[in-house]
Amino acid sequence: MKKSLPLIRHFCPLTLFLYGTYKENGTPNFGTFSWFNYYFDNEVSVMACIAGEKQTKDRIRATKTFSANLVTEELLPLADYFGNVSGYDINKMNVSVEIETGCVLNVPVLVKSPWVYELEVDRTLKFDGSDLFFCKVKNVLADESIVDEPENVESWMNLIRPVQSVRQCYFNWNGATIGNFGELKDSWGRYDFVI
Ligand SMILES: Cc1cc2nc3c(=O)[nH]c(=O)nc-3n(C[C@H](O)[C@H](O)[C@H](O)COP(=O)(O)O)c2cc1C
Repeated sequence: MKKSLPLIRHFCPLTLFLYGTYKENGTPNFGTFSWFNYYFDNEVSVMACIAGEKQTKDRIRATKTFSANLVTEELLPLADYFGNVSGYDINKMNVSVEIETGCVLNVPVLVKSPWVYELEVDRTLKFDGSDLFFCKVKNVLADESIVDEPENVESWMNLIRPVQSVRQCYFNWNGATIGNFGELKDSWGRYDFVI
């Protein structure tokens, strides 16, 4: 038996990614995004929806490139921070995080993310405040541990442990809740991570 619900009560599990862009001054910026999915057009491609005005959106529009770094359980406190502090705040990137540049595109990449797409925007659909970017995958950067074909894919999930969100709640790879958006701070209300 099913019941009709108002859309606001959505149940919509999403996988989290950190989008990396270079700002106008050449320094990296990262934001957290979940409205991310795949489509197929001769090859596997990526679509990413960004609402409102954000540093990440400005830089994707300007450079037509960005990286999408899969969020793992280890990276979640960092993702919670990057998703709750605006890139217009000049201090946002004053955090301890290892960053390198992509292999094919000039995009910042998180060293600790085990699965990263280097993306180039192919087309953009502008809605009423949101932009939907359709992207070609120019390169995939994968951690050595998931390069060789696995005996079973479950072993990859055990290694990578990607995080999902449903509504305002984070879930670990095997379904237990980790906390709510904006709440992964220490008892002093500060984010505490070295990535
Ligand atoms: C878990 C999580 C998921 C998010 N997903 C999206 C998303 O898919 N689209 C979006 O526009 N904003 C999303 N946000 C909000 C942005 O991350 C937030 O506005 C951030 O400050 C943007 O940073 P920036 O200004 O550096 O781009 C999300 C935030 C969190 C915490």
